[in-house]
Amino acid sequence: MKVLIYDDAEQAVASAADHLIAVLNAKPDAVLGLATGGTMLPLYQRLVALYQEGLVSFGKAVTFNLDEYIGISPDHAGSYHTYMRNVLFDHVDIDLSRTYLPRGDCEDAATEAAEYEALIGASGGIDLQLLGIGQNGHIGFNEPTSSLSALTRIKTLTQDTRNANARYFEHFEDIPKYALTMGIGSILATRSCVLLATGVAKAQAVAAMVEGPVSAACPASALQLHPKATIVLDKDAAAELTLTDYYHHVHPKGAESVWN
Ligand code: GLP
Repeated sequence: MKVLIYDDAEQAVASAADHLIAVLNAKPDAVLGLATGGTMLPLYQRLVALYQEGLVSFGKAVTFNLDEYIGISPDHAGSYHTYMRNVLFDHVDIDLSRTYLPRGDCEDAATEAAEYEALIGASGGIDLQLLGIGQNGHIGFNEPTSSLSALTRIKTLTQDTRNANARYFEHFEDIPKYALTMGIGSILATRSCVLLATGVAKAQAVAAMVEGPVSAACPASALQLHPKATIVLDKDAAAELTLTDYYHHVHPKGAESVWN
């Protein structure tokens, strides 16, 4: 795991954006795995700004989102389809026919999950997966006790996760109880991943992910098994780490390591 710690959230966001742009500029038709949530909002804002400056194009990219709520349609205000259109897709040169999210309003969620996983495979696999982290250590919607090898499937959301996402829905009872999510196995199969976490509310989950045992109790800890996982943090999200001196030594101010 590469652990990059920045002084503030703005620098962390800029770093995560740079990682994505580097992949896209090296391979314009890259397959990108996208994430949602509040942490990702400034990241998408930055990507839109960089696109407007002509520094990146999404014109040939293919995207797969991690997850979607079951039981709501793509045009529902709280859906991740809507989120992605609002924060990224409507503002860059992406070809909407190459953007994929699981359909939450599908007839048969199990079939939808299997087809989604197959589509990722048929697209050649994900070059770079963006990830956030929930306060309970979930990634995508893989809640604690999720299988560490499962592929895209149906997950039941915890009450805590429903509470954390309540802001996207008018009434609490409107918040879906189930989601379709890429599994930890799907995430571990990506060629590289960048997890962005900012703010002290994520500090405990980040410490469990980076320095705790690999355990389904903290699904994000499975990233310790990923051959190319970069964890991008501001100092608040890094506050509970114990090997901070080492991370700063290897990557001073988030820089790439230099050895000679
Ligand atoms: C949701 C998403 C996750 C995201 C998490 C954290 O549960 N499914 O992909 O990482 O929220 O969101 P936030 O960044 O708002 O804390």
